[in-house]
Amino acid sequence: MDKLLQMENLERYYKTPAGVVKALDGVTFEILEGERVILLGPSGSGKTTLLNCLSALDSPTGGSYSFLDVQVPRNNSEKMTSFRRENIGYVFQFFNLLQDLTVLENILLIQELSGNKDPQRAKELLKLVGLDAEIDRFPGEISGGQQQRVAIARSIAKRPTLLLGDELTGNLDTETSNKVMEALVSACMQENITSVFVTHDEGLVKYATRVIRIDSGKIMSDESINSNSFK
Ligand SMILES: Nc1ncnc2c1ncn2[C@@H]1O[C@H](COP(=O)(O)OP(=O)(O)O)[C@@H](O)[C@H]1O
Ligand SMILES: [Mg+2]
Repeated sequence: MDKLLQMENLERYYKTPAGVVKALDGVTFEILEGERVILLGPSGSGKTTLLNCLSALDSPTGGSYSFLDVQVPRNNSEKMTSFRRENIGYVFQFFNLLQDLTVLENILLIQELSGNKDPQRAKELLKLVGLDAEIDRFPGEISGGQQQRVAIARSIAKRPTLLLGDELTGNLDTETSNKVMEALVSACMQENITSVFVTHDEGLVKYATRVIRIDSGKIMSDESINSNSFK
């Protein structure tokens, strides 16, 4: 497998009136293409900060980060935005679907915004996440788990290289979370998408090929648990 990205000694310090907060304190790892990483850690351990650095939503204050062997831009919002647009997909915890558009139209809109409207592919993506019967419904007419699966289809419609999610099953029950994660895994495998998902739910570990545990801004353990990743 080829290397997708590498962080070396990454730091994200915040200066606060009470002193320096080391949200990320020397994080080093690389992620290979095709890995499905679950990032686990207690509240305040630095998970969201790490995702925000991975997606160039935030700038590290030290260390290096390269993506496909190129330094990821920092402290330059224009370059950071285009890095995100080219490479990153994001699944939100609260779905953020447009309520006035049908399920299918939500996908078509994203395709249109990224300049490749393709209704056939939009329908295939919805089928992939098990929603072929719901394409003409509105978000308010389907369940939370189904809405999250629409959001997944939407997030992969633009073919991101790296898909990220922060507590994306955080407000779903266990059974629904499992359905969402299954949809996510098959979508990522089919579309060759590498992923990093943040959670504090140990039950999601079974969907990963690798588990990274973080506490106080440092990596505590980093374990490959399945070798059957798709490459
Ligand atoms: N804008 C900020 N200013 C100061 N401290 C922050 C800021 N954002 C996050 N932190 C601190 O950084 C640490 C990591 O936060 P975060 O990445 O949100 O943790 P997690 O997502 O694991 O709950 C926490 O101690 C948090 O209080
Ligand atoms: Mg968080």
